[in-house]
Amino acid sequence: MFKYLGNITDLSHHIIENYVESKGVALDGTLGNGGDCDFLSNHFEKVYAFDIQKSAIEEYKKKEKSNVSLILDSHEHIDKYVKEGIDAAIYNLGFLPGGDKGITTMTNSTLKSVESVLNLLNSGGILIIAVYVGHEEGAKEGEALLKYTKELPKNKYGVMLHKVINRSELSPYMLVIEKK
Ligand SMILES: C[S@@+](CC[C@H](N)C(=O)[O-])C[C@H]1O[C@@H](n2cnc3c(N)ncnc32)[C@H](O)[C@@H]1O
Repeated sequence: MFKYLGNITDLSHHIIENYVESKGVALDGTLGNGGDCDFLSNHFEKVYAFDIQKSAIEEYKKKEKSNVSLILDSHEHIDKYVKEGIDAAIYNLGFLPGGDKGITTMTNSTLKSVESVLNLLNSGGILIIAVYVGHEEGAKEGEALLKYTKELPKNKYGVMLHKVINRSELSPYMLVIEKK
């Protein structure tokens, strides 16, 4: 069993827990089954969580987490709902494992949303994006995100790519973006 390489979700949580100093406001761009949201809710004072699937929102509502605001809308409309700075954000792209593969994150709305999150990110804040390139839209999304994040001004952002290079080219990878 791998420890560091085992699971990008665990790694994303570890990075946020250990490198984001201010644990005020967090955002989950893709609620899904709520694993990332549980983590954020346990470590941050307040969490905004988006999903376009009503079932995901309704299911999470049952947990009655008082510090989580659930938003049934596309994350590209973040600016409509989030009017304060955020300290951390997680995007776990693609479709819900075991769910409808037709309901997946899309390149244009993902890019628009990432741009809004970066503007909202506080100094010292971190955005982590898990990218699944094993399906057609995911491959497009990954390419567009790499192009976009490579061009972010280096005096303002640091961008690190976590990618396993001795596995399939289609293995998921993670982009970690820290705001100075
Ligand atoms: C890979 S899953 C997320 C997994 C989740 N973070 C977890 O811990 O279980 C991707 C989720 O993104 C949602 N999604 C797709 N497009 C979206 C959009 N434009 N805005 C918000 N959520 C979206 C899907 O409905 C799906 O639930």
